[in-house]
Amino acid sequence: MRLILALLAAIGTEACQRERNFKPAHSHVVKRQSTNATFPPVLDANEQLLVDSFDNTSISTWSYYYTHGAHVAGTNRTMAQWTADKFAEYGFTSRLDEYVVYLNYPVSHSLQLSYPNGSIFSASLVEDVLEEDDVTSYPNRIPTFHGYSFTGNASAEYVYVGRGQKVDFDRLIALGVELEGKIALAKYGGPFRGLKVKNAQEHGMIGAVIFTDPVDDGNVTEAKGVATYPNGPARNPSSVQRGSVQFLSIYPGDPTTPGYVSKEGVPRADKSGSVPHIPSLPISWVDAQPILQALNGYGTAGVEVNRTGWVGAIPGVNYSTGAGSGASLSLSNVMEDKYTAIWDAVGIFNGTNEDEVLIIGNHRDAWIIGGAADPNSGSAVLIELAKAFSKLSETGWKPLRTIVLASWDAEEYGLVGSTEWVEEYIPWLKTAAVSYLNIDVAVSGPIPEFSATPDLHAIATAIQKKIIYPFRGSSDQTLYDVWKATTGEIGVLGSGSDYTPFLHRGIASIDMGAGGGPNDPVYHYHSSYDSYHWMETFGDPGFHTHKAIGQYLTLLAYHLSSDPVLPLEPADYVSELESYLSELSSTISAASTNDTLDLSALVSAISTFSSSAAEFNALRAQAVSTSDSDLITVVNHKARDFSRGFTSQGGLPGREFFQHLIFAPGLDTGYAPVTFPGVTESITFERNFTLAQEWVGKTSDAILVAAAILKT
Ligand SMILES: *[C@@H]1O[C@H](CO)[C@@H](O)[C@H](O)[C@H]1NC(C)=O
Ligand SMILES: *[C@@H]1O[C@H](CO)[C@@H](O)[C@H](O)[C@H]1NC(C)=O
Ligand SMILES: *[C@@H]1O[C@H](CO)[C@@H](O)[C@H](O)[C@H]1NC(C)=O
Ligand SMILES: *[C@@H]1O[C@H](CO)[C@@H](O)[C@H](O)[C@H]1NC(C)=O
Ligand SMILES: *[C@@H]1O[C@H](CO)[C@@H](O)[C@H](O)[C@H]1NC(C)=O
Ligand SMILES: *[C@@H]1O[C@H](CO)[C@@H](O)[C@H](O)[C@H]1NC(C)=O
Ligand SMILES: *[C@@H]1O[C@H](CO)[C@@H](O)[C@H](O)[C@H]1NC(C)=O
Ligand SMILES: *[C@@H]1O[C@H](CO)[C@@H](O)[C@H](O)[C@H]1NC(C)=O
Ligand SMILES: *[C@@H]1O[C@H](CO)[C@@H](O)[C@H](O)[C@H]1NC(C)=O
Ligand SMILES: *[C@@H]1O[C@H](CO)[C@@H](O)[C@H](O)[C@H]1NC(C)=O
Ligand SMILES: *[C@@H]1O[C@H](CO)[C@@H](O)[C@H](O)[C@H]1NC(C)=O
Ligand SMILES: [Zn+2]
Repeated sequence: MRLILALLAAIGTEACQRERNFKPAHSHVVKRQSTNATFPPVLDANEQLLVDSFDNTSISTWSYYYTHGAHVAGTNRTMAQWTADKFAEYGFTSRLDEYVVYLNYPVSHSLQLSYPNGSIFSASLVEDVLEEDDVTSYPNRIPTFHGYSFTGNASAEYVYVGRGQKVDFDRLIALGVELEGKIALAKYGGPFRGLKVKNAQEHGMIGAVIFTDPVDDGNVTEAKGVATYPNGPARNPSSVQRGSVQFLSIYPGDPTTPGYVSKEGVPRADKSGSVPHIPSLPISWVDAQPILQALNGYGTAGVEVNRTGWVGAIPGVNYSTGAGSGASLSLSNVMEDKYTAIWDAVGIFNGTNEDEVLIIGNHRDAWIIGGAADPNSGSAVLIELAKAFSKLSETGWKPLRTIVLASWDAEEYGLVGSTEWVEEYIPWLKTAAVSYLNIDVAVSGPIPEFSATPDLHAIATAIQKKIIYPFRGSSDQTLYDVWKATTGEIGVLGSGSDYTPFLHRGIASIDMGAGGGPNDPVYHYHSSYDSYHWMETFGDPGFHTHKAIGQYLTLLAYHLSSDPVLPLEPADYVSELESYLSELSSTISAASTNDTLDLSALVSAISTFSSSAAEFNALRAQAVSTSDSDLITVVNHKARDFSRGFTSQGGLPGREFFQHLIFAPGLDTGYAPVTFPGVTESITFERNFTLAQEWVGKTSDAILVAAAILKT
């Protein structure tokens, strides 16, 4: 149960890579959760000043700026400098941190379907220009393409491969469908798109085409009578999901500099293990329709495949596997490979404790001119946060802990700006970072969602109770009330946004944002229609959700930077570890083998951790009751440091970058998390219980190291 919930929450929350997902229908009536709590929430003077500083109109101004100029990774230094200048205007010492990284940009592409009778259908590969939406007609608008895609041509028969997970390919093989030498036609949804291409490549396929399917739009579809954007909230049929095809679950960051900083002149490694060597293209559902239709009646029909997520909702399509139709595809993808500069804008506000630092990050780059949700709803909020802290500092306030604001570049290609920055500053971060707060898509709908490491759960929830949150026309409730009635659970971090490099170096992390449910306006993820016009018309008219999410982030940052006792709760790892353990037991039972795994080392390590956490709590209570500042420093540093123990230098099997042994993105999901990944994936992928037993040992050792740091 926990796994399912965690998975759903995570799919929804991996902000940049947010996929629409269907949670159980939410109640539209939000009840006040705590009848004893006063409403509106009572705030102290500093909290009130920060919250009052937020203004929906100024947020809309920042949003407008960010969404009216091209800002694909490495292409708009002006925007990076503007961001740094804003940080400076609000009292932060600011600068641009430049890296020279491998990126590629679209040059030309084409996709043709050849019918057996010789007729040809040419896919348009463009999104419609809309009079109502100014940026859709910009002359420098960004073509539809895949970041880090391979330059090449492919001409062959093609096979529909569902969502392109390993299990989908296993199913095709069981059905006797030949894959070698064919082109993969995959549906978006489920795993990170790069893993679809990776799986196709590993099965000897020579190209991949990935299409959007309205099945992911729930009830808000043209087929169900809803008008399409810009006339209504349903998906514009021409919309295309751009995005990276890097192998995200293996290695994020510049693929040519694994484990070290990408500066001018550094040696460049072979990138073939983390980016594809077959070409790929993203297409709209209208372009996909005839291609899928040509497979109707060939191979196994969709309903017979019996795979979750296989059948979509494109009219007239049976989602048959093919091949054998006699139809073929010709795909051409030409990219320009470059080593080029990217710019992280950084703003620093020194705290009094030099060895404690809080980092707040958002990426700035987008696949399109707009990016009003992804990522610039977060960018607009970050500027407003800087403004709020400048107002507070006018009262003479200074944070105890240094606050670092980061506006990352090249997140979209594979968390490049944040990963390179972490690789550069790792000695400092390992010593001083108390937490990393990520805001990517701050708003693409009304439903608040959070994923975080367990030590941040308590403060994350407490701050929710301090924020008034507009929801479906009512402003008579807190963010906590709405969250409780909708998401209601803090998810486990997988990957898909910039918290990843921090998390995997053992730094407490949280990711936040608000997204749409199955009956909300369709968010055109990585499409030209993720624009300011869409946002002001459908996504967040009035920018009130932007404001509430921004107020939340700001109060969270305020407490983490300014509370004398660092508000992290190591003991909250205990119940989470126990639930991951019970999931692991289920995974073992489900593996239907006679092999056994001895989990006693894990049981014992969790128990030791639990005792250490209790000792820590007692020491902290003593520090608080005696107001002993040296003792407070001791407990704060334990809270800051203990989670470094969960990481292992060597990383997970076959993916050195991912060092956190408690949670990681699934090897074949990319976005969604796996808990106790070393153990779990030795079972689910390797089916090797000897290996799994080794990982029980390594994982237990990591928990014991964390416990030892906490122990008093
Ligand atoms: C409300 O207050 C009563 C009396 O103080 C207490 O017993 C109860 O647990 C409180 N309820 C909540 C939801 O905080
Ligand atoms: C960079 O972004 C700004 C702000 O959106 C925009 O005004 C400018 O035209 C962009 N620069 C380029 C070269 O597209
Ligand atoms: C060829 O087949 C396609 C698909 O069945 C059909 O749409 C098209 O009209 C046919 N063309 C000719 C020239 O018969
Ligand atoms: C879609 O609409 C139907 C009929 O109104 C309803 O039963 C169903 O719950 C809706 N689906 C979702 C995901 O809300
Ligand atoms: C495709 O599915 C439709 C129903 O959705 C059915 O009427 C039709 O016969 C199917 N076509 C083929 C070729 O299987
Ligand atoms: C799919 O499952 C159904 C019912 O479980 C079964 O009758 C059918 O044979 C399966 N189809 C294939 C292609 O295995
Ligand atoms: C690849 O395909 C494109 C478009 O059909 C064509 O212009 C180009 O010559 C082809 N390149 C090679 C190397 O075959
Ligand atoms: C902030 O602290 C750093 C490191 O101690 C120092 O180099 C820098 O000058 C300080 N900046 C300001 C604005 O005080
Ligand atoms: C900000 O909120 C006010 C009050 O609801 C509203 O009148 C105004 O239009 C909003 N500003 C923007 C830019 O939407
Ligand atoms: C498990 O062991 C039983 C008894 O030896 C045997 O019949 C069965 O085939 C084994 N199952 C597997 C999956 O190896
Ligand atoms: C299983 O893992 C062990 C330990 O790493 C290794 O020695 C062994 O070769 C693996 N077995 C298989 C079948 O891969
Ligand atoms: Zn993003």
